[in-house]
Amino acid sequence: MRKGKKLYEGKAKIIYATTDKNLVIQYFKDDATAFNNQKKSVIEGKGVLNNRISEHILSNLSQIGIKNHLVKRLNMREQVVKLVEIIPIEFIVRNVASGSITKRLSIEDGTILKEPLIEYCLKDDKLGDPLISEEHIYAFEWAEKDEIKKIKKMILRINDFMVGMFRGVNIRLIDFKLEFGRLKSDGKSEVILADEISPDTCRLWDSVTDKKLDKDRFRKGLGDLIPAYSEVARRLGILHEQTNVSVVNITKLSSVKSKRK
Ligand code: TMP
Ligand code: ASP
Repeated sequence: MRKGKKLYEGKAKIIYATTDKNLVIQYFKDDATAFNNQKKSVIEGKGVLNNRISEHILSNLSQIGIKNHLVKRLNMREQVVKLVEIIPIEFIVRNVASGSITKRLSIEDGTILKEPLIEYCLKDDKLGDPLISEEHIYAFEWAEKDEIKKIKKMILRINDFMVGMFRGVNIRLIDFKLEFGRLKSDGKSEVILADEISPDTCRLWDSVTDKKLDKDRFRKGLGDLIPAYSEVARRLGILHEQTNVSVVNITKLSSVKSKRK
């Protein structure tokens, strides 16, 4: 399988075709954006960490039966993933109120929600990813009722698993964003989990100190994003205890590991 032409470039990732028509390569960039591209920067090493963390989470989800697009990690910045038709909806899952919901509904930051709350946003940068209702999804045929029913079931299992996984390493999973895609074969279509799950797409707070270990460090200008993402990777057992958090070392570690594979 060889890498082909660029098919799509998003804010944090690039998708390349491959010689296998069913597979594409997902490349993790170091670009960081927030507030729909209004704030931008390049944070060296972020792509390497997100590649590793997302690989770890998606492989674990596969093991509990959550079908997803990950085939394998190729190297420090790339994964081979199944080609899917992305459903144009960002599924936001909240366990604790933080971020946009606190402003939109004047809810205090850190309010624990009785049950996980699922919100839908239309994936459209030009419109600023507006919040939509389930009825909008059917009215404009962005997805079918049966697809949303299956996605909601998957979301609750993913959330249960991820809350437990992070709790085990003293991290609170505050909220996160998921994307799903349609895997087409033999004229049939199946919804599977796609995109990435990483500190770019989750809010992760240290259980003891409430320290932010996610992209809010960039959104809020708190700094030290790489040490925070490295801390998440280290706690999940992806980077080892003695690993220095410097980008140089992360980069070296990743290339050594991928050569070993
Ligand atoms: P929000 O509070 O800005 O609505 O974000 C909720 C969660 O979704 C948070 O963990 C960040 C994540 N998210 C993305 O991954 N991409 C996005 O474009 C947005 C708006 C949020
Ligand atoms: N990913 C979105 C952006 O680039 C929003 C965010 O994560 O805050 O602007």
